[in-house]
Amino acid sequence: RFMNDIDLKQYIASIPDFPKPGILFYDIGSLMRNADAWQLATARMAHAVGPWQPEQLAAIESRGFLTAAPLATRLGTGIVMLRKPGKLPGETISHSYDLEYGSDTLHIQAGAIKPGQRVVVTDDMLATGGTLAASIALLRKAGANVVGASVMMELTALRGREKIDVPVHALLSYDD
Ligand code: PRP
Ligand code: MG
Repeated sequence: RFMNDIDLKQYIASIPDFPKPGILFYDIGSLMRNADAWQLATARMAHAVGPWQPEQLAAIESRGFLTAAPLATRLGTGIVMLRKPGKLPGETISHSYDLEYGSDTLHIQAGAIKPGQRVVVTDDMLATGGTLAASIALLRKAGANVVGASVMMELTALRGREKIDVPVHALLSYDD
C-alpha cells in the first residue's frame, strides 16, 4: 500500500567527514527534495503514528518542523511548536537539558496543550536521544499525555532510544 518494496535509504546521501572528521553524515535533504520519496516517507510515518491516535503533534525546532507539517496534515491534527529560547510570545514553560558541551533549553507556550491531551512528538533524527527526551519532559510539564515519538532517522548505535519511555517509530534506522 505504501510501495513497501521501495527502500527509502537509497534517497539518503551519506557524506563522510561531516560535520567533523570521522563522522558519516546521513543527509535527509537529499530525500526531502525528491517529491516522490518525500511523499512516500511522510505517508509511511503517518501510517505508523495513526494508531497512537494523537490529538496534537509537537514539533521540535528546527528540523522537526519539517516532519510535523506533513504528519499533521495527513493525521488531521494541529501542531504545537517546541522552540529554542526567545522565540515564543507570551507565557512559556521551559525545560533545560545537558548536551555534550553545555546545555540547551526548549519552550512551549503555556496553555498550548489541554490537560491529558494525546500528543505525538516528532523530529528528523534520534541520535543520543537528549533532544527527544527533553521534549517529552517539557510536554509532560505542560500537561500532555505523550503517546509516542516519530522520527525520520534513528542512529541506533548511540542507543538514544533507551532514554525514551514512549513508543518510538523511526522511518529509517542506521547502525553505524
Ligand atoms: C539535531 C536533530 C535533532 C537532534 C538529535 O538538531 O535535528 O533535533 O539534533 O540529536 P540528539 O538525539 O543527540 O539530541 P540540532 O540541535 O542540530 O538543531 P536543528 O534541528 O535546529 O538543526
Ligand atoms: Mg533538531
